[in-house]
Amino acid sequence: GAPVDVDITKLEPGQLIRVLWRGKPVWILRRTQQELDRLATLGEDVLRDPLSKESDQPKAATNVVRAIKPEVFVAIGVCTHLGCAPTFRPDVAPADLGSDWPGGFFCPCHGSRFDLAGRVFKGVPAPKNLDIPPYKYLSDSRILIG
Ligand code: FES
Repeated sequence: GAPVDVDITKLEPGQLIRVLWRGKPVWILRRTQQELDRLATLGEDVLRDPLSKESDQPKAATNVVRAIKPEVFVAIGVCTHLGCAPTFRPDVAPADLGSDWPGGFFCPCHGSRFDLAGRVFKGVPAPKNLDIPPYKYLSDSRILIG
């Protein structure tokens, strides 16, 4: 499939957009500073692979926030368990979804929970963090996926 050119000029903090790349949904989320600060507080005690050593992402996005530019998160919106579509739940989750989960992405199929960097929580069926596709910046406001 062809690379997808996405203009993120109008993407507001806290907003997530979806595009299709090679038939897969790709999310682009502009994270707020507060959300980024929260990511930094999550570690090995709650996450399966906090540094994404066992996960798939470009080298330039192999860091705690899993992104080239911290505020802009790009990921494939497909659960790493059996391929369902996780929902975007940026706010603190209801306690019945798991008290250690500060919100992020939630897979309705079998309850896998991810943070806003797509990092999987312990104790859920998804075996690894969400995949991040190859991408690069064409300018400050344009991303090329693929
Ligand atoms: Fe997402 Fe099973 S497919 S938890």
